[in-house]
Amino acid sequence: MSDPRNRKTLTTTAGAPIGDNQNAMTVGERGPLLLQDYQLIEKLTHQNRERIPERVVHAKGWGAHGTLRITSTEVTRYTNAKLFDEVGKETPLFLRFSTVAGEQGAADAERDVRGFSIKFYTEDGNWDLVGNNTPVFFVRDPYKFPDFIRTQKRHPRTNLRSPTAMWDFWSLSPESLHQITILFSDRGLPVGPQYLNGYGSHTFSFWNDAGERYWVKFHFKTQQGHKFYTNDEAGEIIGKSRESYQEELYTAIHTGHFPKWTMYVQIMTIEQAEQTDFNPFDLTKVWPHADFPLIEVGELELNRNPENYFAEVEQIAMSPSNVVKGISFSPDKMLQARIFSYADAHRYRLGTHYEALPINQPKSPVNHYHKDGLLRFFADNGNPEAYYEPNSFDGPAEDPSYLEPPLPVNGVAKRYNHRENNEDFKQPRALWAMFDEGQKGRLYANLAAAMHGIPQFIIDRQLGHFEQIDPAYAQGVRDALAHMDKAHEKQETQKDVDRMALPQSEGPR
Ligand code: NDP
Ligand code: HEM
Repeated sequence: MSDPRNRKTLTTTAGAPIGDNQNAMTVGERGPLLLQDYQLIEKLTHQNRERIPERVVHAKGWGAHGTLRITSTEVTRYTNAKLFDEVGKETPLFLRFSTVAGEQGAADAERDVRGFSIKFYTEDGNWDLVGNNTPVFFVRDPYKFPDFIRTQKRHPRTNLRSPTAMWDFWSLSPESLHQITILFSDRGLPVGPQYLNGYGSHTFSFWNDAGERYWVKFHFKTQQGHKFYTNDEAGEIIGKSRESYQEELYTAIHTGHFPKWTMYVQIMTIEQAEQTDFNPFDLTKVWPHADFPLIEVGELELNRNPENYFAEVEQIAMSPSNVVKGISFSPDKMLQARIFSYADAHRYRLGTHYEALPINQPKSPVNHYHKDGLLRFFADNGNPEAYYEPNSFDGPAEDPSYLEPPLPVNGVAKRYNHRENNEDFKQPRALWAMFDEGQKGRLYANLAAAMHGIPQFIIDRQLGHFEQIDPAYAQGVRDALAHMDKAHEKQETQKDVDRMALPQSEGPR
């Protein structure tokens, strides 16, 4: 039992002690209320403001604090980013996992891509690596991102998810085949956040003190192994709990079973990028390991649960625009669009000074000239005379040692057809060829389950793409669809029998 003497006095948000937090103020015992009962008004108005807009994508998420510990400094040949510069160095981080399509209340064990988004609190400011559990993506041109997401969300009339829209879009976008093959394979439905890999997915760049630039891809391989659910198993799990990932991750960390990933990079020189037989800035492609081997960097560990889900997991603002010295962007068009899009989302979702929220606050000094606006809850003026730049009053000033080396770009400005000069089948073929018979069978069954019931012309168009990966791939999906047709027919016949058995008054079901 708690001791009442240890309790603090309840106050209003303005700090005035409250005498009664049980009974509204009324005229007479039976009401009505008085407008002057400000404590009641404060309670009701706060409740109305407890929700902020959920993320337009990746709304359902799970997260934890952790560290990156450097195990090899081989990458310091390519980058002067301070977080990599010493074996044993630890950088604090927050990792948020998510699903893409579902809303905040969506079930965790749904087949979907998983977000794998890390905020590294480095000594040079925050570096956000906002990746997924897949090394590639569905589209390669940002013009297509909002359309793609529309097909994953609800239909405007039925308010239901629409397999027709998904497959219509995908079958009209063959660049999605690589990601589709991953999504409908075993790795498309992991058992929990610990059992998946993370990828930066895009090509980024590293730069070093000599002013050299290298292209880089980031990989985080799970040390827990890959565990997955079949569709049927996931159905059972969802029937019992919609929060299976939250339970998995929170419990693992709470009981000291800290999940770990090994961090690697792949490096490509500027000259190599001009010679590959694929566009290394195309987000639908990986870099083959045989040509660009993995270089170990460190170990990422998650070891502390958030104290408050809303303040940390919901208010964290991850953005590909947050890079630090030694790490930069690439010409990847998708990445370029994301550099703009995330901070825009944060200003809308959280407010102007969202970077000053505790979970987003860098652990290094922050000195800028941005002024007022929403969430301006820091009162410190710093140096009050230096509120513009340049100034003669010792205000914060630039440091040229942080200047990124120049990046030569040239070309003709034009809307280039991103479906020209691109090969969409080779890499999905390499992936499919890696699957054993069991994995292939589950891939076909998962695809058929997702496609069953959509218009036949869309099925045919999609089978045409699978055919180009390999005729056996298309045949596998065709057979799995036929199997579903039969099972469906059987079910329908059974329903007819049931209907006939019904008493007249109950009508058809
Ligand atoms: P490798 O054989 O060198 O690499 C294969 C990669 O595939 C490994 O990273 C492995 O990850 C991953 N993998 C293994 N089994 C599966 C699976 N069932 N589903 C998804 N990924 C799996 O070959 P390449 O580098 O030439 O790539 C071949 C194909 O592998 C690619 O076309 C791509 O689809 C896929 N892949 C490639 C990656 C890359 O960066 N090169 C990264 C991930 C996938 P793990 O070690 O965790 O088992
Ligand atoms: C979240 C836009 C592609 C991974 C988001 C959000 C937006 C967005 C607006 C919500 C941000 C927020 O409110 O905090 C886009 C656009 C894309 C794109 C415009 C392409 C042009 C990608 C790709 C990946 C990715 C390719 C992975 C490689 C994520 C993740 C989150 C996210 C992981 C959740 C971040 C978190 O946990 O807070 N995206 N996205 N997105 N996106 Fe993207």
